[in-house]
Amino acid sequence: MASNTLTIIDNRTGKKYEIPVNNGAINASDLRQITVSEGDFGLMSYDPAFMNTASCQSKITYIDGDKGILRYRGYPIEQLAEKSNYLETAYLILHGGLPTKPQLEEWSYNITHHTILHENVKKFIDGFHHDAHPMGMLVSAVGALSTFYADAKNIFDPESRKKQTYRLIGKMPTLAAFVYRHSTGMPYAYPDNDLSYTGNLLNMLFKMTELKYKPQPVLEKALDVLFILHADHEQNCSTNAMRGVGSSHSDPYCAVAAAAAALYGPLHGGANEAVLRMLMEIGSKDKVPEFIKRVKEGRGKVMLMGFGHRVYKNYDPRARIIKQVADSVFEVKGRNPLLDIALELERIALEDDYFIKRKLYPNVDFYSGLIYQSMGLPMDMFPVLFAIPRTSGWISQWEEMLLDPEQKIARPRQIYKGADKRDYVPMDKRK
Ligand code: CMC
Repeated sequence: MASNTLTIIDNRTGKKYEIPVNNGAINASDLRQITVSEGDFGLMSYDPAFMNTASCQSKITYIDGDKGILRYRGYPIEQLAEKSNYLETAYLILHGGLPTKPQLEEWSYNITHHTILHENVKKFIDGFHHDAHPMGMLVSAVGALSTFYADAKNIFDPESRKKQTYRLIGKMPTLAAFVYRHSTGMPYAYPDNDLSYTGNLLNMLFKMTELKYKPQPVLEKALDVLFILHADHEQNCSTNAMRGVGSSHSDPYCAVAAAAAALYGPLHGGANEAVLRMLMEIGSKDKVPEFIKRVKEGRGKVMLMGFGHRVYKNYDPRARIIKQVADSVFEVKGRNPLLDIALELERIALEDDYFIKRKLYPNVDFYSGLIYQSMGLPMDMFPVLFAIPRTSGWISQWEEMLLDPEQKIARPRQIYKGADKRDYVPMDKRK
């Protein structure tokens, strides 16, 4: 008997099966041969929320949640945060290796020269209510780009995919800044191609009447590091949405809209906004023990936002780096008064049995909102700032899915628990 197999004895029939094990996994379809009678559909695995199911093979991002390790294409996140920049990291994620100097120059040129939006985009952003949530506007606006680029539906043409990649990574900051300016009633500020990716975003967000906006270098760098940290995170909820929607062969703008919609939720990318609301609700450091008590008594109803992760059962390595970034930003903009509450929450939670037993540690969203707030951004823009850098990860995962011969349209099975067959009851006979 081969050693890399799993032997299953079905006690319902007494039959024995040998199933191959590859990469620490069995192929769920191999279970289908396990039947109890002729016509039986075969054994399925039941896994709500994909707690123990690998939906793909991927070469992009590696996470070891127990050890707190995150690597893009093999490179540790700590090294990328220190030595790389967002556009180089996006190149790495999409192409599989670090670019040479000419490759990086060409890549950056192409992204920079796809930052301008069609003027009509402004018209439908104008149509949103003044207090529309920026994430709702972003989701709609990026989906609407599908109507401007008909060539995007040629998803199996590598040239078309390349073009949409430039457009999506180039235009996401412009869309983000436009929805922000719309919320504040400010005129839209156009991209400045002389600036870096994050310098230009700051320009489009904050430019007033000056002829040339000069981004504050510490803030520009801080945003760049945050963007590196947010670029990809393997099969999270929004990436799964990107792959799932993309698997029906819709165009990448619609798939990114779906991914961004998934990111919007407070359990995912909306957590950075939720953390700030929680810190404001707590109000002061002395109220922290009372809040922690509520979380423990609430048992899943009151959450310590920015804590916990499906994969990390250790300190999220991104949160560690973000804490350092926060210090650099506070040096320029002044200490965010909510920081003391956050530090106290972390201190108490990391010593508390409830959190220790469940391996709940701060995640990427715990401190990022404090930085964005210190930069002068309102809370409802925080998930938008997550969506911009995650776009490179989404596209990379989408392309990997499209080119993977094992992938098909994503279509899970279900276990039906509803009513058995019954006959239609006319209205006058219903009770
Ligand atoms: N506060 C209090 N209790 C928690 C928390 C929390 N933040 N997170 C998990 N728990 C408890 C949960 O109630 C459960 O307890 P019990 O075993 O008694 O039922 C236990 O810990 C296991 O949690 P789970 O809900 O089974 O874990 P999950 O893998 O399904 O959920 C999570 C992961 C991130 C959705 C969850 O930890 C959470 O909702 N955290 C707060 C929201 C948040 O910060 N999200 C950002 C995630 S990181 C950025 C990103 O990639 O989006």
